[in-house]
Amino acid sequence: MFYEPDKNNHGLRFNPFKSICVPRPIAWVSSLSAGGVPNLAPFSQFTNVSYDPPHVLFCPRADTDTARNIAETGEFVVNMATFAMREAVNATSAVVPPEIDEAALCGVTMVPSRLVRPQRVETAPTQLECRLHSVMLVPARLAGHGQAVIIGRVVGVHIRDDVLTPEGRIDIARIRPLARLGYLDYTSVESVLTMPPPDGPNAERSRRGLEGRPDMAVAAAAK
Ligand SMILES: Cc1cc2nc3c(=O)[nH]c(=O)nc-3n(C[C@H](O)[C@H](O)[C@H](O)COP(=O)(O)O)c2cc1C
Repeated sequence: MFYEPDKNNHGLRFNPFKSICVPRPIAWVSSLSAGGVPNLAPFSQFTNVSYDPPHVLFCPRADTDTARNIAETGEFVVNMATFAMREAVNATSAVVPPEIDEAALCGVTMVPSRLVRPQRVETAPTQLECRLHSVMLVPARLAGHGQAVIIGRVVGVHIRDDVLTPEGRIDIARIRPLARLGYLDYTSVESVLTMPPPDGPNAERSRRGLEGRPDMAVAAAAK
């Protein structure tokens, strides 16, 4: 089949698009309004953008409290959502007035961050403290449904000690990160396969980059 999104002529009962870029990890984003009201909400239009220094990107609708808070204060925290936390993650997506703190409403314990004012989810296995880099607006077919593309520079990274293996890797199968599929469907990461880059003149360099080991040329240049 073929359809044009501008015509939405897919003829299916459900729009298939959200089932195509899958699985999407979920940024559980905490922010603060200019007046100091905390906010927590999940966003699956989320990925990392760069690595050194790290930046992340997520896309809340421009009319959400999250998008407004970040435009006003320039700070947020991305908490990793896990299978164990799925009910709370879902509960914090409820549309409530801006003066309501979803974390308190849904019984999610927050703890202070180190470098930014919004707090972080205590039990999240990783929490990224971010400062706003830029916001772009993507228009929608429906008036008022425009999407903000928010890029944040990660200035602080928390990793729960118990999710690090003795070799110093994040133990993803143990964390079971939660991810969105389309429709009302979710999945979680439960198995990991390992695959080195193909052999060739740059294999060692690629391997270092993929593995997250320091690039020797970059390390030497930094000296
Ligand atoms: C798992 C999950 C993922 C979501 N992803 C997005 C997203 O990427 N973009 C978005 O605009 N809304 C997304 N939503 C809906 C928002 O969480 C919802 O609009 C929320 O009320 C926004 O909260 P806020 O107004 O407090 O910022 C998602 C909801 C769930 C349950």
